Order: sequence, then structure tokens, then C-alpha cells
Amino acid sequence: MKIRAKANANIALIKYWGKENEELIIPKNNSISLTLDALYTITEVEFNDNNSDVFYLDDKLQGDMEHEKISKYIDIFRKLSGINKYVNVYSFNNVPTAAGLASSASGYAAMALALNSLFQLNLPKEEVSKLARRGSGSASRSIFGGIVEWEKGFDNDSSKAIKLDDANWDIAMIILVLNGNKKSISSREAMRKTMETSPLYYSHVNHISNDIKAIKEGIANKDLQRIGEIAEHNAMRMHATMLSSNPPIMYFEEKSIKAINKVKELREKGYLAYYTMDAGPNVKILCKKSEVDLIMNELVDEFDNIIISGVGQDAVAEEIR
Ligand code: PMV
Repeated sequence: MKIRAKANANIALIKYWGKENEELIIPKNNSISLTLDALYTITEVEFNDNNSDVFYLDDKLQGDMEHEKISKYIDIFRKLSGINKYVNVYSFNNVPTAAGLASSASGYAAMALALNSLFQLNLPKEEVSKLARRGSGSASRSIFGGIVEWEKGFDNDSSKAIKLDDANWDIAMIILVLNGNKKSISSREAMRKTMETSPLYYSHVNHISNDIKAIKEGIANKDLQRIGEIAEHNAMRMHATMLSSNPPIMYFEEKSIKAINKVKELREKGYLAYYTMDAGPNVKILCKKSEVDLIMNELVDEFDNIIISGVGQDAVAEEIR
């Protein structure tokens, strides 16, 4: 039997940054994201007759560290199912890996959904989101399409994603890929350092329940201006906690600042356009789907690597053999 799963990436509008429990990946705060159809991972899994798991990413056999990580992750499924078999994993990313474009989110979501079928757990999506979370926090949200909330919860069972809205309305995201290289410091490491050393961290976290409440009102009213303003402020507050870490953590590059200024200029011209950034230099622009073409006209002369994305659907898995 071979299972193929596909999961879309997501970009957080209210960011997850910092863990309550490192082992189980229970976050400090709830987060809310938009699932994107242009960025996704396809993962195929099958049992093998070897004495170890085998992991290929984009047709490349991965090194010892990656194998160790993936095997530890598959152990969760072996334990849950009582099936002590090893697995071949073939993952294909159409997301530049580890460039702050959420490849770990789509990656672990596709993997969790595929392993859920292979190990015959057949758990419902909400349960699979908890398993995806164990690989990478943001992956919990990639199980669902539309606009998704990851409820932080307090233990393994209560920390899960739920769908808030299909986002079947006038909303899109434009991604300015400013540097597709691997990031200098992983989000896992950067979160830990921020929590340990930033004097601003807890004041940021304490403000997040207000952001969540306000953005949910915006989502209920399909009010892109409200959603965008809250998302922009939330993202920059998160980056402020990183900048105030010791030593400072900075994902901004010169081109990131240029892109942010461009988004402000777009707003002055009357477009609804808002920026957000994650653990990488790339800038994502939240905008109206109906204005994407006009906004693209404004961007193409200054930025050469641009991805336009609509709203992604739920992750899916099927048996292919
Ligand atoms: O799930 P991780 O460990 O890749 O962390 C994601 C962190 C951010 O992308 C910065 C925020 C988020 O909520 O996705």
C-alpha cells in the first residue's frame, strides 16, 4: 500500500511565537492563518522491509540528522497504532525549503495525514492536526483550508487547529520571494532565544488575545482592512520581540524594508494591501483577489520572484497503490 497526501502551506495573520511545552509543541498563544493554494507539499509513504526509515525530500536522500528527526516523528505513529514497521517517505515541496515560506507547515501536515492512513489510524482531521503539530507547530493549521485557528490548549489533547472560515471571498496573498536560501536561524531556536532574553516578549504575548478577538470580528465581517491592520501590527510586534532579544535576531534584509515601503505606497494609492513576515526575509502581502492584477502591475518592475496565491483547501490523502 502506498499513500499520497497533499497539504497546503499557511501564512499566519496572528503569529505563533514561543512554546509553553517544547516536547509536545504546546504554544504560548493562539494563532490564526490563511491557507495558500500556491504553496504545498506532496508526500508519499509506504512500509519497507528495512530496519530503518528512509526519507527523500525532492528526490534527494536526506542526511542523518533529518533521518533521526523523521524517525522520531514516525515513532509517534508506530506507538499509537502498535504497528512496528519502517517507512519510506518521499516528499516534494513546491515551497523553497526553510526560507520562511512555511515548508515545515505543509511538510508535516502532508506527512501526518499520509501516516494517519498508512498506520490505519483513520483519525478525523482535528485529531490529525494534533499529530501534525508534533512535527512543527504551524503544521497543525495546514490540515485545514481557509482561515484556521490553532487553539493553544494546555496539553496534547487540547492543542489543535479548527477551521474558522472558508475564506471563499475576495482575499488573496502575494508573496515576494526576496531570498529563497535556507534561513540563518531556525524558528525553533529563535523562539527559544526570544523567550529567554527579550524583555518585550511577555508584553507581546499578553496582547495577543486582543488581536485574536479583533481579527475574528474582522473575519466574520469579511473586513479586509481590519484583518490586514491587525495582522500587520501583530507581525511587527513579533519581530520587535526578536529584535529586542540578546543577541538580537533579525530576519529583515534590505529588500524586506523596500517591500514594506512598497506596500505602504500601494495603500496610499488606494489598494487594500498589508504586509506580514515570518522567520525569513520574504514579505507576504494580504490583498483583495480582485485587485491582484493591478497590484502586480505595481510590483513587477521592482521585484522579480513573485508568487500569487489564492486560498487553499483542506489537506487530502488517497491510496495510490
Ligand atoms: O511551526 P514553526 O516552528 O515553523 O514556526 C512558525 C513560526 C512563524 O511562521 C513565524 C509564525 C506562524 O505562526 O506560522
